Amino acid sequence: IEPDYEKVSEWAAMYVASRINAAQPTAEKPFVLGCPTGSSPLGMYKKLIELNKAGKVSFKNVITFNMDEYVGLPEEHPESYHSFMWNNFFSHIDIKKENVNILNGNADDLEQECARYEERIKQAGGIDLFMGGVGPDGHIAFNEPGSSLVSRTRQKTLTQDTVIANSRFFDNDVNKVPKTALTVGVGTVMDAKSVMIIVNGYKKAPALKAAVEGGVSQMCTLSALQMHPKAIIICDEDATMDL
Ligand code: GLP
Repeated sequence: IEPDYEKVSEWAAMYVASRINAAQPTAEKPFVLGCPTGSSPLGMYKKLIELNKAGKVSFKNVITFNMDEYVGLPEEHPESYHSFMWNNFFSHIDIKKENVNILNGNADDLEQECARYEERIKQAGGIDLFMGGVGPDGHIAFNEPGSSLVSRTRQKTLTQDTVIANSRFFDNDVNKVPKTALTVGVGTVMDAKSVMIIVNGYKKAPALKAAVEGGVSQMCTLSALQMHPKAIIICDEDATMDL
């Protein structure tokens, strides 16, 4: 628990950098990082960019896998997770384009796209560190309440609550928000060797309470991390107000 968002972002960035540095990744043995979108990781991405520019961490031998992507939103749309990641992170660091993996929400065969994604994660040796945020309803990636806790990468219908929550990125117009997304499953996240979740703000307090103090439940998919041997939640004081 850190006092505020600034400190949360700093802690998260330092943690990620130290994990990458400790692994001493090479082209043959890269570090595999799972990446989230959303406003929560933005501060961390900013600080990781600074650390990269200062020569304190390199992404040359880092492979990334993003958590999710909207279905049917063109890649170049400003709110696609492709745009988000390139604009807020990848374009500003020394990562190789071919090492970036993001689900294609415009693939002809979405089922095959999801299977291909799982296969690529396997080929990369599994995810070393999956970073994430949480939705106000406790969802991780787009694993909405009711998602199986052993789910794999698949297409998911967004709940009305999530559509409303994410409409802030679409001119506050729910009709502009895609209604489905491709997302890694809870099982995919659980397979990562370690997981770090950023939770900030009082709006996330109920989700944090359910995830940490509630039972493991498919109605709050973040709670699955109670069963993970190496999961960290880094949060600000506001997020802890229901604990
Ligand atoms: C979306 C993403 C999640 C993210 C959540 C919270 O639903 N699919 O991965 O954790 O938003 O977003 P924010 O960090 O903006 O609150």
